[in-house]
Amino acid sequence: MFKQDLLKGKRILITGGGTGIGKEIAARYVELGAEVWICGRRGGVLEQTARELGGNVKTHVIDIRDAAAVDAMVQRIWDESGPLTGLVNNAAGNFISPTKDLSPNGFNAIANIVFHGTFYVTQAVGKRWIAGAHKGSVISILVTWVHTGSPYVVPSAMSKAGLHVMTKSLAVEWGKYGIRLNAIAPGPFPTEGAQKRLRPGGDFGDSTQLNPMRRVGRMEELQNLATFLMADGCEWLTGETIAIDGAGYLASGAAGYFVPLDKLTDADWERMRSMIKAANEKDRGARTV
Ligand code: HXC
Repeated sequence: MFKQDLLKGKRILITGGGTGIGKEIAARYVELGAEVWICGRRGGVLEQTARELGGNVKTHVIDIRDAAAVDAMVQRIWDESGPLTGLVNNAAGNFISPTKDLSPNGFNAIANIVFHGTFYVTQAVGKRWIAGAHKGSVISILVTWVHTGSPYVVPSAMSKAGLHVMTKSLAVEWGKYGIRLNAIAPGPFPTEGAQKRLRPGGDFGDSTQLNPMRRVGRMEELQNLATFLMADGCEWLTGETIAIDGAGYLASGAAGYFVPLDKLTDADWERMRSMIKAANEKDRGARTV
């Protein structure tokens, strides 16, 4: 779909780039000639991904909930590689839960990554772009429930809606510096991380019935959109959140996701909570920060 070396000369940071959607975007960017930095909490996972992708991939171990660590990471990139040209805000945390059962820590675990952490990264990069008179492009990976809201994932829905507003606000505030911000709102693109925490024990099959195209997303479709938004040639496109979901949210709104969870019993929820917590535990064991 794109010409070879389309992203040559680009230097792009992808948060949460070791796995899932972030890794897929990193792979396509590297293939198209970009230098890519990936960051995340699990050093081993990052190293493995960097090896797999070959090419020009650098890694940084970080928890983006730590604002000082975020600033230090961005400074390291500037010192070692030079100014970034692009940022993909992909790192996120999420799990399904009845909202009434969330503890303050549970809410914060998600909001601190998605809402606060993404702001820290965007600001640390943006202020350097402004100081150095560099242009830049930010893409945030959101979800269509920024438009519809969604039951059972309220901390994520609230946080991602905040980033939708950040995208619009900073597109206006930073437009004069040549900095643009757009967002992608994917419908279901199955990944391991989402599967374990949003469909524990099940799959995404049921959501396809409500989708006008009767299927989930194909990763290359998301990679192509992320490439289009990052490449040169459409710099006047800013402040937009673009849904890529087969018109799913237009057709069924929030019902396309978690409304069917209304029928779960307390025992079902208890079982799912254990599965999610086991997945969290396993991931935590691999963290190096
Ligand atoms: C209720 C839960 C819970 C659950 C965790 N908690 N899981 N509460 N139900 N299933 C509570 C814990 O009890 C604890 O509160 C608090 O959350 C923090 O838990 P930790 O495991 O200590 O948190 P932490 O190690 O910081 O991990 C953060 C995380 C984890 C968000 C909980 O899931 C994570 O790191 N996720 C990253 C990857 C990820 O989520 N990928 C999916 C992204 S999908 P107490 O009170 O007990 O101390 C996505 C949108 C996709 O973002 C949309 C697709 C359609």
